[in-house]
Amino acid sequence: MKINLTNSLDLSSSSNLATFYGQGIVQTNLTKEIEELVTEKELTKFGALAATRIGKEVKNLVIASLGDKKELTQEEIRVLISRVYRSTVVDKANVVNIDLRTLSGKSDLYNTVFSAVESLHLTNYSFDKYKKEKNEKTVVFNLVIDGDIAKAESAQKEAAIVAIATINTRNIVNEPPNILYPQTLAEFAQEKGKECGFKVKILGETEAAKLGMNAFLAVGRASVHESKIIVMEYCGDPSKEKIGLVGKGVTYDTGGLSIKSPYKYMLGMKKDMGGAGAVIGAISAIAQNKLPVNVVGVIATCENAISGDAYKPDDILTSMSGKTIEVQNTDAEGRLTLADAVYYAIHEEKATKIIDLATLTGAVIVALGYLRTGAVTNSDEFYKQYEDASKISGEKVWLLPNDPEYAEILNSSVADIRNISESAGTVCAGLFIKEFVGDIPWLHLDIAGTAENQSTKDYQQKGASGVGVRTLYQMFKAMK
Ligand code: BES
Ligand code: MG
Ligand code: ZN
Repeated sequence: MKINLTNSLDLSSSSNLATFYGQGIVQTNLTKEIEELVTEKELTKFGALAATRIGKEVKNLVIASLGDKKELTQEEIRVLISRVYRSTVVDKANVVNIDLRTLSGKSDLYNTVFSAVESLHLTNYSFDKYKKEKNEKTVVFNLVIDGDIAKAESAQKEAAIVAIATINTRNIVNEPPNILYPQTLAEFAQEKGKECGFKVKILGETEAAKLGMNAFLAVGRASVHESKIIVMEYCGDPSKEKIGLVGKGVTYDTGGLSIKSPYKYMLGMKKDMGGAGAVIGAISAIAQNKLPVNVVGVIATCENAISGDAYKPDDILTSMSGKTIEVQNTDAEGRLTLADAVYYAIHEEKATKIIDLATLTGAVIVALGYLRTGAVTNSDEFYKQYEDASKISGEKVWLLPNDPEYAEILNSSVADIRNISESAGTVCAGLFIKEFVGDIPWLHLDIAGTAENQSTKDYQQKGASGVGVRTLYQMFKAMK
């Protein structure tokens, strides 16, 4: 796939056109043919498509309907463009002109180009490295715009960086656990650090033990793969505060001795490092686009496996903070790793705000399904920044309550806290992490339902979604 920007639609050099139809749209070419097709196909609903072959000059034409929309959001543009991408017209063509001039009254140029480019990259994605048959679409898209090409090119450049960072995240989340484990995840972060311009430091089990990260180390102890701490740092403006991004990096979750059963509950647990993937992707995009912000990413990565050395229900762990934790279920391991990771980010790396992302609870899927990420926070203002960004990215989020009464469910009779609750699973898992954050602004994002798409739709493919990368990017971009 290749994307060009141009001011003129040259139908003679190519025979394929994608355009848009809606209220107040003035067609710039083929007005008669487009009107006929719209009438014939009764093109009235937003996102509906009609395609046809019309003679010599323009062989293939696809029209995407805007319905009665007066303005278009960036999400609506991404959806429209992905539907054009998936249309039969694109399948048949080597060159497709997309006439974005027809959207000019409905969205500004920068955002239109940004969303179109983002959508083309994300829709073009497929995880086929282990398949004989690959996605080999070699289409050239000419985006036809009214106005400043230089401005449009800067939107294209920025959007491509964000989309490719998202794709890289999808790739590592899709990787199987025999290939992706703590060491290889750390190597991936190092590689991205070199490519995108951020520092990466890796700590092993000995160093984690010296720091007292016993809650984290207990989870990974049974695995043949050594646990690692990945620390990534990007400084875009030394005068500003440093925000900590902490990602759950369990490269495989068998459940441990509280083993996942029936087998279907274990299948798919390669995605249990989706939070880590999002953190690496977000820092990659932020650093490569040189946003004037400071970020430190912390990933305490391990595999939750089984051996004679496995941690057990009834164990009492002393976390890095000094707080003791009664283990009642070894499958509630994510919060144990995060307890030490957030504490490390604040006390060793001096983060003054924390966002953690984690595929933490099955309960969030019961509550919100696969559509929305569940959030828990101690700062409505901080949450609002993420929510505003999510409206740009299209990655939906929902704020759950944080009443202190919920935290009482985590009381233990033998330790300072226990690692499970019988009710309010997602809220309690969030409030467990809060115990190790203290009073600084904190936002917890449970992405257990959103890290993986159940099916292919618009610019998403079945498999890893890369959730978090684009919203975090937009959130940090708005901090300028
Ligand atoms: N990795 C799971 C959460 C999960 C479930 C992610 C489904 C994606 C899809 C997590 O470590 C876990 O097992 N959580 C337990 C917690 C329980 C034992 C308190 C759960 O949600 O069942
Ligand atoms: Mg080990
Ligand atoms: Zn688990």
